[in-house]
Amino acid sequence: MAFQPPAGKLSDSGTSIFSTMSGLARENNAINLAQGFPDFDCDPVLKRFVGHYIHNGYNQYAPMPGIPELREVIATKVRDLYDNPINADSEITITAGATQAIFTAITAFVSPGDEVILIEPAYDCYAPAVKVNGGTIVPCEMTHPDYNVDWDHLNSLVTDKTRMIVTNNPHNPTGTVFKREDLEAIYDIVKDTNILILSDEVYEHLIFDKLKHQSVLNHPGLYARSIATFSFGKTFHNTGWKMGYAIAPPKLMSAFRKVHQFNVFSVNTPFQYGLADYMGNPSRYLKLGEFYQSKRDTFYEFMKKTDFRPIPSHGTYFQLFDYSAISDMSDVEFAKKMTVEKGVAVIPVSVFYTAKIDHKVVRFCFAKKSETLKAAGMQLLKSED
Ligand SMILES: Cc1ncc(COP(=O)(O)O)c(C=O)c1O
Repeated sequence: MAFQPPAGKLSDSGTSIFSTMSGLARENNAINLAQGFPDFDCDPVLKRFVGHYIHNGYNQYAPMPGIPELREVIATKVRDLYDNPINADSEITITAGATQAIFTAITAFVSPGDEVILIEPAYDCYAPAVKVNGGTIVPCEMTHPDYNVDWDHLNSLVTDKTRMIVTNNPHNPTGTVFKREDLEAIYDIVKDTNILILSDEVYEHLIFDKLKHQSVLNHPGLYARSIATFSFGKTFHNTGWKMGYAIAPPKLMSAFRKVHQFNVFSVNTPFQYGLADYMGNPSRYLKLGEFYQSKRDTFYEFMKKTDFRPIPSHGTYFQLFDYSAISDMSDVEFAKKMTVEKGVAVIPVSVFYTAKIDHKVVRFCFAKKSETLKAAGMQLLKSED
């Protein structure tokens, strides 16, 4: 009998829209505001720190949970910002980006038959991780056009099979930022259950308009049942390093590490040392909100002269714009057309929904040099003539 290769657990996921749009942007020499990464480099000081450790022999396996120096500096930050005296030994694990932390958390806790509530539009790595582990995705759509979570609706989706709720705050792609009331609403839903919270907080420092990041780390009741995930790539402009971390109370972290030790064991030693030294100075991450707010505002100055209608972004480095005054094409077709004909690549928001809901909204990434934002703005203005 001829060998028939099995289809694989994720055989029905095609090429991601991020690769498609970036490929289209390259082919058409378009400005890429689609994928979420900066087009500027990270701080040379951080690169020097990492280089120092590479050149001085720090090139073997790190301890499984990460080097103590980096976990200590993270614990200090969490104490200072979120008033939570976490233990660096038992509550923090350094991961290969937030993506691995998310996959590991879902793998550690979600089994066949479990339901996982995803707030949609949702970042694209949650659903496949649930699927691979045999879980069932239960989408909870945010309100439109203001993109908030209707907690009564979410509550109505909870069953005795609900194992986990995944939250993302600040939220990609919408730029929605939780208020304290949102954390209280989540707590009210889960407090008498065994439901876990996977709280994806990779944009914790990218927060605007004088808002304060509402972390589960700062809510004792929620923290007791949460795994929170973070990304150095988002904070220090080096998404290609794929460095991040997870924080959870000791029992949850112990279960997390049982999977972590077999899907990666430990991550990138010299980068951990470099990041530990660099993070010793908190101004290196605390000014990030101001930095990105000014980029958001620069881009908006151009966009307000177009017929795109802004949907306010209070965090992340993304902003949604409604294009219904410009076209009634589907958002996927519109995004492709913009790339090919107007020279600016964006992401259609329907791809972030299980049911591919199309509200005629596209996502722009403003983590770009002023010249790039200006050039994109000019292209869009020109194309409206
Ligand atoms: C909401 C969200 N979570 C997680 C990630 C992944 O982070 P990392 O690059 O550290 O794996 C991203 C990256 O775009 C993201 O937007």
